[in-house]
Amino acid sequence: MRISVIGAGYVGLATATSMASKGHEVILHDVDEQRLSAIEKGQDPLDEPGMAEALAAYPVAVTNNLSEAIANAEVHFICVGTAGASWHYDLKSVELVAAAMGRLLSPGSTVVIKSTVVPGTTETVIMPLLQLSGKKVGTDFGVCVNPEFLGVGTALRNALHPDRIIIGQWDERSGDKLAALYRGFNCPILKMDLKSAEMVKCASNSFLAAKISFINEIGNICKAFGIDVYEVASAMGHDPRIGHKFLNAGTGFGGSCLPKDLRALIASSRRVGYEPEILEHVLTLNEEQPRRMIKLLKSHIPDLNGKVIGVLGLAFKPNTTDVRESVAVSIVAALLKEGARVRAHDPGAMASFQKLFADIEYGTAAHALDSDAVLIVTEWDEFEQLDYCGKIVIDGRRVMKAREALVYEGLCW
Ligand code: UGA
Repeated sequence: MRISVIGAGYVGLATATSMASKGHEVILHDVDEQRLSAIEKGQDPLDEPGMAEALAAYPVAVTNNLSEAIANAEVHFICVGTAGASWHYDLKSVELVAAAMGRLLSPGSTVVIKSTVVPGTTETVIMPLLQLSGKKVGTDFGVCVNPEFLGVGTALRNALHPDRIIIGQWDERSGDKLAALYRGFNCPILKMDLKSAEMVKCASNSFLAAKISFINEIGNICKAFGIDVYEVASAMGHDPRIGHKFLNAGTGFGGSCLPKDLRALIASSRRVGYEPEILEHVLTLNEEQPRRMIKLLKSHIPDLNGKVIGVLGLAFKPNTTDVRESVAVSIVAALLKEGARVRAHDPGAMASFQKLFADIEYGTAAHALDSDAVLIVTEWDEFEQLDYCGKIVIDGRRVMKAREALVYEGLCW
């Protein structure tokens, strides 16, 4: 089948290459010419593991011309970003694409919304824009919602080996066409209406966020009792109803997805007249964890003014250069507010963090360790190889080697 993918971020790239790997003819559209020319040369502009190799093995055509992308394709995936203002999704790009795409659609083609949006958005915002040209959904073209569950750093693997495919369908014919497209992916395909599919995405990320805040709360209680929450979580995880994943207690969740999706669901829930108290507490507790870390540090060094504090880990999780909503942002801001001098190190994210904090020191791990105390904020594997002897370490991510420090404090253990 001929497919167009609009938006060459990590969702668009992973969608395009995974579809190309199943033998479909893919054309990828973006407005960023530099990004397109890298992709055309088989380079991955986003450093997603395996992506460059996949692009070499399954090349996709690229264009910055929307008409060229839409012409002759039967299925059009909208994968443009919606991350924006903090309590709602920024729909600007989706709206622009939908409005422009409507008049270009050939009869019988299907538009698939992959961009994350809150329930009801496709029906109330995107469909009216697609129909501006006078063409009608269900008669002239079809619409589906097909949320993505791709992690940063695992996008290609998640796209090639999905746990489930969710198809929200407006019209059955489009739902069937999309299901046929995914037949080679060997996982359950679940069909539902458009807003249910939108909700599956928001609810899944909110659940993951809740799982993390839950174990962080248990961890905070464990700390007060002198219990190791990791031992508790590991034992809990043997119950298949609980599972082992996403029970790593510590400084909390960041990134471009979990915090944003949680806030967007809270805001849209309030809009329909429901106060989502559990979700609100998930967020509050997540904001509290970095503050607890600073409090723990101050229990060893009460006055941080003029002290040198090392920060190990700036990325929102290991193996990425992404610092969006990273816990390190709140930690460094709090340290600077206390008058501390910050020596930061991250194996991959120093350049991106420098755009947010230009005036702190960046250097090697050894330089960060050469401080009055060190905070571990992201669990890069490299941090298991460092020499912590003689240091004061506050560990927010449970790096086992750091226990050799002169003073070692785990945030939740
Ligand atoms: C998340 C979801 O995991 C994906 O399923 C989803 O598709 C994606 O958002 C998205 O909406 O596009 P991602 O943001 O890449 O993926 O990162 P995660 O691996 O979920 O980690 C998010 C944050 O939670 C990180 O800061 C991580 O350190 C933290 N975390 C994760 C914990 O604090 N404890 C854990 O046990 C797990």
